[in-house]
Amino acid sequence: MIIKSLKVENFRNISSLRMDFSDVANFFLGKNGIGKTNLVEAIYVNFFSRSFRTSNLKNCVKMGERDFSLSCDIVLKGITHNLSMEYKNGVKTLKVDGKRYLLGEYLKYGMIFVITALSSEIVYGEPSLRRKFFDSLITRIYPEYIYLLGRFRKIYANKRDLLVKGVEEKEIFHIWNVELARVYHEIYRKRVEFVKLINEGDVYDLFSRERKKIGILYSPTIDFYRMELKDVVGFLDENLGLEIDRGQVLFGPHRDKFYFTYDEKMAKDFASAGEKRSILLNIFFKMIDILDDLKGELPVFIFDDIETEIDSNRLEKLLLGLKDRVQVFLTSSKPELLEGMLEKKKIFYLRQLFFKQF
Ligand SMILES: Nc1ncnc2c1ncn2[C@@H]1O[C@H](COP(=O)(O)OP(=O)(O)OP(=O)(O)O)[C@@H](O)[C@H]1O
Ligand SMILES: [Mg+2]
Repeated sequence: MIIKSLKVENFRNISSLRMDFSDVANFFLGKNGIGKTNLVEAIYVNFFSRSFRTSNLKNCVKMGERDFSLSCDIVLKGITHNLSMEYKNGVKTLKVDGKRYLLGEYLKYGMIFVITALSSEIVYGEPSLRRKFFDSLITRIYPEYIYLLGRFRKIYANKRDLLVKGVEEKEIFHIWNVELARVYHEIYRKRVEFVKLINEGDVYDLFSRERKKIGILYSPTIDFYRMELKDVVGFLDENLGLEIDRGQVLFGPHRDKFYFTYDEKMAKDFASAGEKRSILLNIFFKMIDILDDLKGELPVFIFDDIETEIDSNRLEKLLLGLKDRVQVFLTSSKPELLEGMLEKKKIFYLRQLFFKQF
């Protein structure tokens, strides 16, 4: 996929802006606080209708304004589309080529990977961060996965309500357990397929001189590998007492755990800070290959604040790793870091108000 252009109205510190991008590389350069991350965030929100910086899109509305709107032209499978996202009176409207789309359909166009300063937390932080991260990657490969998650969320909400209200009738829970087992099994299968795709063919850290292998471990709350679906329902029914005692849904995809391994050890406990960052980059590289293989489509790669994340040596390897195949967006407040790259990459100079040209 290629992002051809972006239009921004009243988003963060940007009043009104239109940018036409290079198909190869786009560098957003400028001093701290100028609005580089805001631009990356604008692209992210345009594609995913949520932000990586705030859970409330109201914060993205330019101070003193009421609404924001974003729109970009993309080329996907050789066809040009316009994706627009409007936030008006707290309501989001998503459109593709001027027609309204539901989120699940709209997300199919989300062929972008964004790395920000917050990203390496995914490797060592709470399991929920990795779960969300992998769920979003799985959705890129199997867009229908988003509906499975939606189905699960409804079942989960119903079962949790019953537990919170103190309901103890086993028959009532049984109905939800049957539904939960079904959807959980489907989510489990997709997660297993995804982990297999990543681990297949071995991933070695591109940024390390030694051959350090990177992998993902998946640990579901139920051992589907050994259980038939009816046994899973039986297991859920049998363990209901535990859930009633705790007032919580204890078994389900919302509690599955994922871990990264680095050099055959748990990355969160053993990998250095730099290695943790490398892990994510390598996973993205692998995703590029997977999407290319399965969909014949390459994602766009967006990397915010490169200087805080990698040194110039790694940056060079990163750009090599992208193999000139994907459109790249990089932001930096240290233009020197990119100077060495200028010969190797076709650079598009942004001539907008706050972008310094050099
Ligand atoms: N809703 C908003 N309305 C107006 N300005 C905002 C809004 N939200 C954030 N800002 C401003 O945007 C600026 C931050 O922009 P941004 O985070 O994109 O900077 P940056 O160029 O990425 O900086 P750095 O190099 O430090 O990462 C801040 O000055 C902040 O006050
Ligand atoms: Mg920034």
